Amino acid sequence: MKREKILVTGGAGYIGAHTVVELDLAGFEVVIVDNFSNSTPDVLDGLEGITGKRHHFMELDCSDREDMKMLFAKHPDISAAIHFAAYKAVGESVEKPLDYYRNNLDSLLCLLYEMTKEGRSGGLVFSSSCTVYGQPASENLPVSEMAPLQPATSPYGRTKQICEDILTDVAKASGDKLRAIALRYFNPIGAHPSALIGELPRGVPQNLLPFVTQTAIGLRKELSVFGNDYNTPDGSCIRDYIYVCDLAKAHVRAVERLLEKRTGKGGEVEYFNLGTGVGLSVLEVVNKFMDATGVDVPYKIVGRRAGDVEKVWADPSKANEVLGWKADTPLEDVFKSAWLWEKRVRRKL
Ligand code: UD1
Repeated sequence: MKREKILVTGGAGYIGAHTVVELDLAGFEVVIVDNFSNSTPDVLDGLEGITGKRHHFMELDCSDREDMKMLFAKHPDISAAIHFAAYKAVGESVEKPLDYYRNNLDSLLCLLYEMTKEGRSGGLVFSSSCTVYGQPASENLPVSEMAPLQPATSPYGRTKQICEDILTDVAKASGDKLRAIALRYFNPIGAHPSALIGELPRGVPQNLLPFVTQTAIGLRKELSVFGNDYNTPDGSCIRDYIYVCDLAKAHVRAVERLLEKRTGKGGEVEYFNLGTGVGLSVLEVVNKFMDATGVDVPYKIVGRRAGDVEKVWADPSKANEVLGWKADTPLEDVFKSAWLWEKRVRRKL
């Protein structure tokens, strides 16, 4: 039987690469596109090391109409796409809103133009974020897909909301031609157990876990914990940290659902929260990381970071039931995977 061809935009990125591994395991043929704006070609070697094969790859910019035309001319038989390609740094988006709107909106638009062209049909999985919920009211925690969306706290967050709206309108207008699922990620962490791919931020890490591992290995003097005066048990912020390989598997389930045409009737977009259902504070993360790895992470408490929400964690029951998926990797293994990756990257293995 011919294998279905799945396009992964941003496939050399952190979540994209882990998803390529899971798609490959599930028997799909994968087409990766990336412009390496926040990744490097080494990732493709890592993927080859894990899967034993070189997947189709095109270096291109998804926000460029001509590039996307070229891609679909070369691969007209793409059955579904997973759209990761986007900028994702919250702080940077506040400084460079235009870059964020242009890149994140144009890339989705260019992809949709190609996917909805005459004679084409297919499924689209969109990388969204729990940021669309803002700070949910306490009675809405854990947050389900039914919770009201709140005004975004950054241009980055707003691009996710606008992209969800674009998807809703385009899927509706397309009838049954474009079926779409938006996955709202909570906080992805960890690395593939092989340590051949993982999260490698450029410059000073903005996200918590890369900062923790870089501090543990001595690259950073100490971690700054942003605030201990929140209304949480230990005063630091609470998030739902989900293992990136568990997250990647949810994409395979979503693609299968789209290909089996179990969703998208009447142009409805489906939304799923991808989290564990458990909230952890920043201080809990640091302590559990130290317990799992036996490595010390010096830290100090500093002031709050602008734009941070106090606490948010997922009610993932819709994804558990409808996608038949659960994030179930023990946290200890997740922290160990992040540590192994950091050591391999710094050649300390
Ligand atoms: C944010 C976005 C999320 C986005 C992600 C991508 C919001 C609410 N969330 O996640 O949608 O997908 O960025 O990058 O906009 N922390 C420290 N010290 C550090 C770094 C982080 O204490 O050096 C704390 C933060 O204050 C926060 C937690 O760790 O409480 C997690 O932070 P981070 O990893 O940056 O993720 P979010 O801000 O939750």
